[in-house]
Amino acid sequence: MDKKQFNILIKEKFKNINLIAVSNREPVVHEYSGKKIVSNRSVGGLTIALEPIMRDLNGTWIAYGGGSADKAVIDKNNKIKLPPGEESYSLKRLFLNKEEINGYYYGYANSVLWPLCHIVYKQPEFNSKNFEIYKDVNKKFADSVIEEIKSITVNKNYTVGSQSSDNSNAVPGSLPYNDNLQDEADNVIWLQDYHLALAAKYIKEYDESLKIAIFWHIPWPNPEVFSICPEKKEILEGLLSNDLIGFHILYHCQNFLKACEWELEAQVNWADYSVTYKGRRTIINPFPISIDARSIYDFSTNIDINSEEFNELKEIVEPSYQFLALSVDRIDYTKGIKEKLMAIDLFLEKYPEFIGKFVFLQLGVPSRMHIAAYKEYYDEINSLAEQINWKYKDDDWHPIILFLNQLDLKSYIYFYKIAAIVIVSPLHDGMNLVAKEFTMSDTDYNGMLVLSKFTGSAKELSDAVLINPYNIECFADSIKYAIELNPEEKKQRISKMQNIILDNDIFDWAYNFLSKLKTI
Ligand code: G6P
Repeated sequence: MDKKQFNILIKEKFKNINLIAVSNREPVVHEYSGKKIVSNRSVGGLTIALEPIMRDLNGTWIAYGGGSADKAVIDKNNKIKLPPGEESYSLKRLFLNKEEINGYYYGYANSVLWPLCHIVYKQPEFNSKNFEIYKDVNKKFADSVIEEIKSITVNKNYTVGSQSSDNSNAVPGSLPYNDNLQDEADNVIWLQDYHLALAAKYIKEYDESLKIAIFWHIPWPNPEVFSICPEKKEILEGLLSNDLIGFHILYHCQNFLKACEWELEAQVNWADYSVTYKGRRTIINPFPISIDARSIYDFSTNIDINSEEFNELKEIVEPSYQFLALSVDRIDYTKGIKEKLMAIDLFLEKYPEFIGKFVFLQLGVPSRMHIAAYKEYYDEINSLAEQINWKYKDDDWHPIILFLNQLDLKSYIYFYKIAAIVIVSPLHDGMNLVAKEFTMSDTDYNGMLVLSKFTGSAKELSDAVLINPYNIECFADSIKYAIELNPEEKKQRISKMQNIILDNDIFDWAYNFLSKLKTI
């Protein structure tokens, strides 16, 4: 569905909901720039996904306020109305001190749950003190939700929506959503991601009848891998305090259900993908996240790559080239950036006819740099790019350009449109929205997607050139194959994938998730 349909449906079907979304990252950050305060919209899938829903439902979004001017712009309830000028939903900020950020965000969320769930052979750094802080911060988020609930006037009785469910991720035995279900709960709490695995437990301790769901934006590992986590029981029990848990794909749901059997001896119903534990039932379903596909397609259609406004961007790709390969990644060891550089090295070695004609542009932003593994990875990428450039360069040309600064959507789309191939090569990724964003931006059908099999998006985008990023030789060959695909086949494959993305866009994701939650 497109945004217009979504606006109508969501307002009609969910109008009496008090939606409280909770995430670590906030949708808008306020920063000091000299004495002035500037507001920046956060980049990333979460904001793209949730913001339209929050606007339509006039919801409250609780998140950690990490900007230097975040405290300066809120009211006495820690709230600010957003987006600027429109003011349709509230952002309620909570604040964390340095010890909390280190223990909860850098420590437990990003040095334990992140590597554990991604299975990229990076050993999680278990540390019980960080887990204690993670628990405390989850409690803090829960307290903020409870405070919000107390301040909301309860308004019961509303009708939930309906939807058709015909995606390939359908859970065996699942029933179509019922249009006429009545639901008593008015407050719907929607937690986001691995930062908040325990929050539902603390909220339910306050009021068992509250309706709570979590969407887990990263993969869920197989039970063997999960079993090494010292806090596995608490993590599972925390998650099973939700009424609904969403993952991107069925495989992650299955892994989660198996973990519940292995670790908790919980009663798993494989017919409808539910777990009953300590008398409470939780539904586990796949909801593949997406993008605002129609808007991106329309936006891209209207971009003229020859316009002078892109002159500065053109200078980023300094050496002249015949084939531009492009990637856009957060600099993270799960993204397979090293493997990609190794594949490019081998590609140039095996196919020297591309020397002087092929340029690879890596766009992206460094992230989580206070974690040693991220800093080391960043340094390794820089030195590997340097080595490869030294190996092949001549006076006017070198093959690799790293441009690791934030750009706006228009700039990314400009590069998507001029690229011969876009490489998305994570070693493991829950979904990966760059793959979808590029596909929708390729309105001239000039490019081709090279996509890791280990991304959630590969399940939907099977017409991409699929690769195993660990298999460097095949990866190198696939780069050549994708560049040389004939234009007619490229067009067919891209337009097929565009239709698939349009059929399940970000609005379908949100609508399906909320509809499912209301049937529980
Ligand atoms: C990636 C993951 C999301 C996660 C986000 C956090 O985009 O796919 O699941 O929420 O990282 O990023 P941050 O910069 O907030 O650590």
